[in-house]
Amino acid sequence: MRSRIAGTGRYLPRQVLTNAELSLRVNTSDAWIRERTGIAQRHIAAPGEQTSDLALAAAREALAAASMTASDVDLIVVATTSPDMVFPSTACILQDKLGAHGGPAFDVQAVCSGFVYALALADRMVADGLARNALVVGAEIYSRILDWSDRGTCVLFGDGAGAVVLVPSAAAGVLSSHLHADGRYRNILCVPGQVQSGAVTGTPFVHMDGQGVFKFAVRVLAEVAQEALSANGMTAADVDWLIPHQANVRIMDATARKLALPPERVVSTVDLHANTSAASIPLALDVAVRDGRIVGGQHVLLLGVGGGFTWGAVLLRW
Ligand code: ACO
Repeated sequence: MRSRIAGTGRYLPRQVLTNAELSLRVNTSDAWIRERTGIAQRHIAAPGEQTSDLALAAAREALAAASMTASDVDLIVVATTSPDMVFPSTACILQDKLGAHGGPAFDVQAVCSGFVYALALADRMVADGLARNALVVGAEIYSRILDWSDRGTCVLFGDGAGAVVLVPSAAAGVLSSHLHADGRYRNILCVPGQVQSGAVTGTPFVHMDGQGVFKFAVRVLAEVAQEALSANGMTAADVDWLIPHQANVRIMDATARKLALPPERVVSTVDLHANTSAASIPLALDVAVRDGRIVGGQHVLLLGVGGGFTWGAVLLRW
């Protein structure tokens, strides 16, 4: 038994912050950001909006696309690095907002690889009969963990959510998942703050060694892609759509080049929403499903990489 994606959804907060607007706040320019990252704009959550609210909107779209209601869902996994609060999990808060009580709900914390990790876990739970219909969501509000005076990081990230509904399937669906981490690289991308004795200690903002991240990401994305393809007796020529983590077009282009995959087969939406961490892959997936690029029978390769460092691949037959 496998699991397959029966519906996708996404949500981006209403407020758009363009590169030009950002260049009024920090010493940067639209040309610099576009050339180095491919990003044109990002969305910013409203003051009262929580990560679970973004997740809720994306989840509702995914459920509608799957012709299901919240009562059909018996597992909720939310991938997030920017949860509503220390605890309970954003998944439990989402479960309550959806009114889908009773089944298991938990968060996965694997930073920008979170959605790939969450999908891999939910796939096994559905395929093994531990759950019937699962909601897997990536949702983030990075705007609240960015130092808006640091041009090296604040231009790169944005807020958003993407969701999928997973159902049991005898044929199409998740072919295999491949997950990795190497904690020796935990300091090149981190938010090192802690909540301690009623105060935040350390730095509660994204800290990044940009060039270290770039090199690491390109290497492991290509490696894990090859691992997924080899495990299924496939080559890059069999991949119809590559959906890598949407951090930066240069990382995506370099990964595609390493795999000898033509750029037209890479789904890229980072220009519209910047790096939304765990939300980026389901956001891009939803765009490519709704605009008709992804159709039944195709092979779709999802690749995640993020802080930890973590990375992974999920290969799907649509
Ligand atoms: N606007 C203008 N100038 C800038 C900006 C900015 N926003 N940020 C940095 N600069 C300047 C630097 O100060 C430096 O100036 P200097 O030469 O006078 O010292 C110059 O630009 C070059 O800086 P570098 O850091 O060397 O620039 P680089 O070409 O490496 O590009 C970037 C930086 C875009 C961050 C790149 O390293 C990168 O893409 N890294 C990957 C990071 C990433 O995508 N992170 C996302 C999170 S990771 C993940 O999701 C897996």
